Amino acid sequence: MSEAPADVWDVIVIGAGAAGLMGAAEAAFQGHRVLLLEKNRRPGVKILISGGTRCNLTQATDKRGIVTAYREQGQFLHSALSILGPDDLIKLIEDEGVPTKREETGKIFPVSDRALDVVSALMRRFDRSGATLLLEQSVQTISQQDGTFTITTDKQTFVAGKLLITSGGKSYPGCGTTGDGYAWAEGFGHKITPLQPALVPLTTNDPWVLRLSGLTLPDVVLRIADRRGEARGAADEGNAPAGKKGKKKLPWLDERRGSLLFTHFGLSGPVVLDISRTVTGHPEPTACDVVVDFVPDIRSDLLDEGIREQCAAAGKKQIGGILQKWIPHRLAEEIFQQAGVSTETRAAEMSKAARSQLVRWIKEARISASGSRGYAKAEVTAGGVDLAEVDSRTMQSKLMPGLFFAGEVLDLDGPIGGYNFQAAFATGMLAGRCV
Ligand code: FDA
Repeated sequence: MSEAPADVWDVIVIGAGAAGLMGAAEAAFQGHRVLLLEKNRRPGVKILISGGTRCNLTQATDKRGIVTAYREQGQFLHSALSILGPDDLIKLIEDEGVPTKREETGKIFPVSDRALDVVSALMRRFDRSGATLLLEQSVQTISQQDGTFTITTDKQTFVAGKLLITSGGKSYPGCGTTGDGYAWAEGFGHKITPLQPALVPLTTNDPWVLRLSGLTLPDVVLRIADRRGEARGAADEGNAPAGKKGKKKLPWLDERRGSLLFTHFGLSGPVVLDISRTVTGHPEPTACDVVVDFVPDIRSDLLDEGIREQCAAAGKKQIGGILQKWIPHRLAEEIFQQAGVSTETRAAEMSKAARSQLVRWIKEARISASGSRGYAKAEVTAGGVDLAEVDSRTMQSKLMPGLFFAGEVLDLDGPIGGYNFQAAFATGMLAGRCV
């Protein structure tokens, strides 16, 4: 693996994460002398902690599925996915002796449930490629003159004709990802689109939500509402000419469906992580409400009718138990309280107004966001090197010949489910092939 390095290399790659390990090996397979520099004591630290140390390496979908999941960033991934789509990535890992499995959610994991096996597979490929890995080399400065890059670490200086930056984002900084790549890119004139934590749990101070800590709901719909927008909408209505007033339906900022977990600080679980970017990217995150539909498959009018029927059947009994057909008991208790309906009311005496309050709280429970858990707990960083300034067919900078980017340092962030590794591996491979 690491024979004593000469100072001059064809290609230097910074960051031995998903994109760097893939990119450096690919460049070496093309016949280049390649040096991969990593500040940590071991490669692939983020891979090791990913997916609860199981590593969800990609998603059971095709290239189009990945492109679609990346929304407006998806177009940028076409060329990368054409050389390493989800099936190709699975095959590559399996060919290194690590069988994979697909879970119900479409997530692909190693059969062993060990992220370490994925890193070992990548390292076997890396070693075969002939590339060199130097650990505990923290890159400090980069400069370029006459087509040669000079890279200085905390220990020594290297030069190379081509440079691939795969230093990741700035979330989970304990993994080595402290956002260093953004400053280097800026130094070469690149624009960095606004950075924000993404795939991150959300916080709230609403006591009823905090009381539900530990409760998991497998299938809810979350929507994000902007209270400021609604306030403006209401004011506009107030100024509307007589006869033109009416409740204006404002669009949600975002909507996702999936599993929700209540925690001691607020909200987590896949659906929250996926929608979190809309809150963290909002100019005033505390103006966001997370609006929860606890029973997305039941229309409000049918739920209202269902509660009425339950009440009629329960007669003189108290109403405490009537919501259990739809939601767990702990949640029902909080919903009664929030809706201002006493659980001691006799079922037959429940008023229409009380019923519609309950329906509103089950279908549109409002939770005010107080923020997020920040970069410390964000699985990815949204924003990064502006995609408009990078050639998506090669991953080369449009501003600086010989400079390449791949992985999370780019303005790429996907949903949970293996999409982020897929993009990192694919862009890494494309960059390695094109250096
Ligand atoms: P990555 O972060 O992997 O690697 C960058 C490397 O650069 C690091 O090793 C860092 O030390 C190094 N580096 C940085 N600055 C340096 C410097 N100055 N000098 C030298 N080296 C430097 N995704 C997914 O698809 N499935 C999943 O299951 C998960 N799970 C998950 C869990 C958790 C807790 C986190 C934090 C993240 C995930 N992710 C995920 C996201 C995924 O880990 C992430 O998108 C990829 O690792 C990005 O790959 P990169 O190669 O771009 O960066």
